[in-house]
Amino acid sequence: MEITLKSGQKVVIREVSLEDAEKLLNFYKKATNETNFLAYGPGEFNFKIEEEREFIKKQMQDKKSLMAVAEHRGRIVGSISFKPSVGTQFSHYGEMGIAVLKEFWGEGLGYTLISYLKKWAKDMGVRKINLNVRVDNKRAISLYEKAGFVYEGRISRHYLIDGVFYDSFIMGLEID
Ligand SMILES: CC(C)(COP(=O)(O)OP(=O)(O)OC[C@H]1O[C@@H](n2cnc3c(N)ncnc32)[C@H](O)[C@@H]1OP(=O)(O)O)[C@@H](O)C(=O)NCCC(=O)NCCS
Repeated sequence: MEITLKSGQKVVIREVSLEDAEKLLNFYKKATNETNFLAYGPGEFNFKIEEEREFIKKQMQDKKSLMAVAEHRGRIVGSISFKPSVGTQFSHYGEMGIAVLKEFWGEGLGYTLISYLKKWAKDMGVRKINLNVRVDNKRAISLYEKAGFVYEGRISRHYLIDGVFYDSFIMGLEID
């Protein structure tokens, strides 16, 4: 699917493939260096290309999980993932993760990636998308609110960065 960003730049959103391992690695390295709102902080994302290939392979084998990327001129500039919960009674929901390179923030790419996931989730019969977001991640929170997510709770001490704890909100989107 090709979309035009607010700046007029064209981006393709598609599911990841094994050939993306190096590109995806470079993307995650850059994205984690630009923010500490992700699971890995600056300089901490040090996976090898073979590990990245294995990660992609597992994602592709599990039809109930999604890893989609936004590609601009052959470079990955955004990603969205959905990880299904384990257990038959939990199989109707899963966890979302999203990241966009800083130079593309505010262009509507985050919103488009979530819309892509919402359509995929509906087609797959997913009934609920959950996420956690640091309480001070204002940009992400307003994006999630705009996309229809609601507050469901708060996790204290969810992050520990350089000796400082940060709480997270639990947010969710029901799909009917
Ligand atoms: C959070 C993130 C995915 C948002 O992506 P994005 O492409 O910038 O999002 P969009 O441009 O689609 O939408 C951003 C929305 O956030 C809001 N927003 C934009 N700038 C903002 C700011 N400075 N403060 C608060 N909200 C802001 C607006 O509602 C905006 O929508 P609008 O431009 O239509 O008004 C991106 O900033 C990112 O990757 N951040 C680092 C990683 C991260 O935090 N991931 C989420 C972890 S839970």
